[in-house]
Amino acid sequence: MKKAFLFDLDGVIVDTAKYHFLAWQKIAQALHINFIHEHNELLKGVSRVRSLDIILELGNVQVSQADKDKMLIQKNEDYLSYLVGMDESEILPGVFKILQLLKDKNQGIALGSASKNARPILEKTGIISYFDVIVDGNDVTNAKPDPEVFLKAAQLLNIDPKNSIVFEDSVAGIQAANIAEMVSVGIGEETILHEADFIFKDFTFIDETFIESLITK
Ligand code: BG6
Ligand code: MG
Repeated sequence: MKKAFLFDLDGVIVDTAKYHFLAWQKIAQALHINFIHEHNELLKGVSRVRSLDIILELGNVQVSQADKDKMLIQKNEDYLSYLVGMDESEILPGVFKILQLLKDKNQGIALGSASKNARPILEKTGIISYFDVIVDGNDVTNAKPDPEVFLKAAQLLNIDPKNSIVFEDSVAGIQAANIAEMVSVGIGEETILHEADFIFKDFTFIDETFIESLITK
């Protein structure tokens, strides 16, 4: 049976969560907000606009909309500067193997990401051709945990949400998959992603037997 395999981008396909963190940290520092690694978990999967609001809430700081707009531009420029030299080596371990396996098994493959930078990242890393469908931050109005991004991806693949599987590294993304009644596969720590149906530390722990069990389920 043909299923929809939906992949988040940041922290699932590429190791960009660290760059988002560094760029947000600069914004926080300028505002004298203590923004540490643990706080970053709150921002994973969350849109750029919402991420800034979370940081401002953390520091109990209020700024004008005009200043927010400037900060959002500055954050993205800084983030993009980290991506200049990005290439295939930034693809997380095991990702290519799983994508190839799914292609060989004629499964639907889509990206479901909150990022507005998704396409250039997929191009730079040479992975874009694996995706039948790309839905990113430019295509949706509701951020995860709203399931819009995954429902849209499944719809474009013409596959029922119940026959869809989501790979996610964020709590918001796992919740989105669960709300959409899709199978949720957490990539990361069990303590954080415990709401997922399955959890793996990374893609190297996912084998053909597991993929086959999802296809035939
Ligand atoms: C998500 C990331 O994939 O995309 C978030 O987990 C990020 O950290 C969001 O804020 C939006 O990304 P971008 O590239 O549009 O700023
Ligand atoms: Mg992510």
